[in-house]
Amino acid sequence: MGDGGVGRRTFLAAMTGSGAAATAAADPAADPAAAETADGAAGGPEAEIRALVGRMTVAEKLGQLQQLAWTGATGPGGSQTASAEQAARKGELGSVLNIFGARHSNALQRIAVEESRLGIPLVFGLDVIHGFWTTFPIPLAQAASFDPEVARVDGEVSAKEARSNGIHWTFSPMMDVTHEPRWGRIAESCGEDPCLTSAFAAAKTRGYQGGDLAAKDRVAACAKHFVAYGGAEGGRDYNTVDVSESRLRNLYLPPFKAALDAGCATVMASFNTLSGIPAHANSHTLTEILKEDWEFDGVVVSDWNGVGELLPHGFAADGADAGRIALTAGVDMEMVSTHLADHGAELLASGRIKEDRLDDAVARVLRLKYALGLFAQPYVEEAEAVPGPTPQTRKAAREVAARSMVLLKNEGEVLPIGPGKAVAVVGPFADSRDMQGTWAGPGGEKFPPVTVLHGMRDGAGRGARVTYGVGATKAADVVVVVVGEGAKLSGEAASRSDLGLPGDQEELIEAVAATGIPFVVVLLNGRPLTVGNWVESASAVLEAWHPGIEGGHAIADVLYGKVNPGGKLPASFPRNVGQVPVHYNHENTGRPYDPKSPGNTYVTGYSDVERTPQFPFGYGLSYTTFEIGTPKASVARIGAGELRRGETFEVEVSVRNVGEVAGDEVVQLYVHDPVASLVQPVRRLRGFERVALGVGEAKVVRFVLGAEDLGFWTNAVDGRFVVEAGRVDLYVGSSSDARSACTIQVD
Ligand code: BGC
Repeated sequence: MGDGGVGRRTFLAAMTGSGAAATAAADPAADPAAAETADGAAGGPEAEIRALVGRMTVAEKLGQLQQLAWTGATGPGGSQTASAEQAARKGELGSVLNIFGARHSNALQRIAVEESRLGIPLVFGLDVIHGFWTTFPIPLAQAASFDPEVARVDGEVSAKEARSNGIHWTFSPMMDVTHEPRWGRIAESCGEDPCLTSAFAAAKTRGYQGGDLAAKDRVAACAKHFVAYGGAEGGRDYNTVDVSESRLRNLYLPPFKAALDAGCATVMASFNTLSGIPAHANSHTLTEILKEDWEFDGVVVSDWNGVGELLPHGFAADGADAGRIALTAGVDMEMVSTHLADHGAELLASGRIKEDRLDDAVARVLRLKYALGLFAQPYVEEAEAVPGPTPQTRKAAREVAARSMVLLKNEGEVLPIGPGKAVAVVGPFADSRDMQGTWAGPGGEKFPPVTVLHGMRDGAGRGARVTYGVGATKAADVVVVVVGEGAKLSGEAASRSDLGLPGDQEELIEAVAATGIPFVVVLLNGRPLTVGNWVESASAVLEAWHPGIEGGHAIADVLYGKVNPGGKLPASFPRNVGQVPVHYNHENTGRPYDPKSPGNTYVTGYSDVERTPQFPFGYGLSYTTFEIGTPKASVARIGAGELRRGETFEVEVSVRNVGEVAGDEVVQLYVHDPVASLVQPVRRLRGFERVALGVGEAKVVRFVLGAEDLGFWTNAVDGRFVVEAGRVDLYVGSSSDARSACTIQVD
């Protein structure tokens, strides 16, 4: 047997808690082998895990690597309820997904713990993506807050609700950076930037896990999807990804590293191929980078049927081959398909899989169960199950939703809507409950959201009129047109080739424009949309995304000015679909577009649309105005060697609210290395801070920069990070168009 990862830096060590106290179910400490510990502490969890693995049959070991679905959900292979019960009884099942409810999960757990030979508890997983009962805004919306604290709050509330209802493990946070608004799963992501995504990935992980996975209000997080899933060609879900090593390391990997540094307990492999190798078969990413370079000792779970999909990918000859390839590459647990459980014994007997690797995978699963405290307490207290959202969690969801909204336009200051104004609310989403977004969790069905109409009626001051429907608009001072995409149009397998408003919603906007009454368009959607056909005619546009259970209230808070919007776009909005990809962090061509010589034909771009997006990354307005000063670096020069040794420098900039109301600005710092041995993006976000400022108030924002911010990964497959000598330009401002700059010289 292998050493099961014993002796490495473990997430278990970071998450010690009561998980180490194995007593109730299997009692590996009772085994004499446990006395002899590799980690030096008699009875320590690693020794106990080793001892337990030593007592397991091959079938029991393979069982720990199997996760079955209680109910069907997102792909081939439906509900596996009966086989899950059977396998649990035989002690040949590690985990179940899509089961929840304290009573339900306890009943199944009882079978595993009380009826199987070793009594090893099951770990229960569920996609708790932006809420369990209390639905928060979709992750893309949360990213628009540019405030990672909102993700932490969502994670914390979700963890408490989920754990008390029998869930130990959420398949979240999703951290796939993407330049593809056509890709439906952009809704689950933080958009197009690795720095923003990293900050949110770490914060959400902390929110879910806290400091002790065994606590009654915490769940294990899962960094997904590993890796580069967001690079799907054409934005078609599950599609091919072909990237250079440098792009893999500079763009797609950093959020995963950030999540793991925050203690993330598990990782999920992605459905895509990566330069020809399916992610589930990719030993370079799963083993060399994740497990060896990063010393990750948690569980790598496959995605739904991801091991089985090695066959249609054209990479495995049959089920046994698929199981062999996935385990050998670094997958530790197989979700839904059963190739390892079905063929593992024969693979082991014929030497096609190694016992060391099998034991290592089993140890990883057991380590997760220890950290979650399941050996000590496999059951959940049924009387303590949180039954639904509370006033406090609703308040949190409302604040997060309002904080996530982005004001795209506000001409003639039609917003905020003043007291006593007559408002007509119109549009297919005005009184729609379809605003929770993709992956809304069990609460999405059970606890309908506050609609915009409802929210506006609650938010209108005494005596103010809020009417509903197009017929009401004649008597209105302002019309609020609520349009968007239904939740099913974004998320998994929901890619779109057209990014306009579906159906006849654009005609509705035209009809409202024809009345001549000032109108506000409120967008409820899960991705960047093309708004060019109608944006000129609207007086104001508020991007509210899919805002969750308190969405209607939060929208009213913003429209009536109770909350001054301060969100910024986490992904560029293209002018038309043909322009995609049109992200801010692109590289320069040899013939870049120069706005100073617009007549120049031989430059990159399209001849029928402008080069710039409709709205760039980082863009968003406010009801007030801010002035951002010129950035100043604390040093004029710094040595590359000093940076590599961990030295840092500061960039400071002042920001002042020069408008008439209090508000939030997101101060953003971008880096550009103009001459490098690898062509660099024209801008890279390396710092941001959301600052609240009263009228006339000013603040100095300080960013600390180091090697990580100025250097980059090369194309070396064994991973080489370099900091090169030369000038680096630093831009600070309120969007990726920031012009205010200073430079630093790296020697
Ligand atoms: C998705 C994952 C999800 C899993 C389990 C898959 O289809 O890609 O993100 O966690 O299903 O529901």
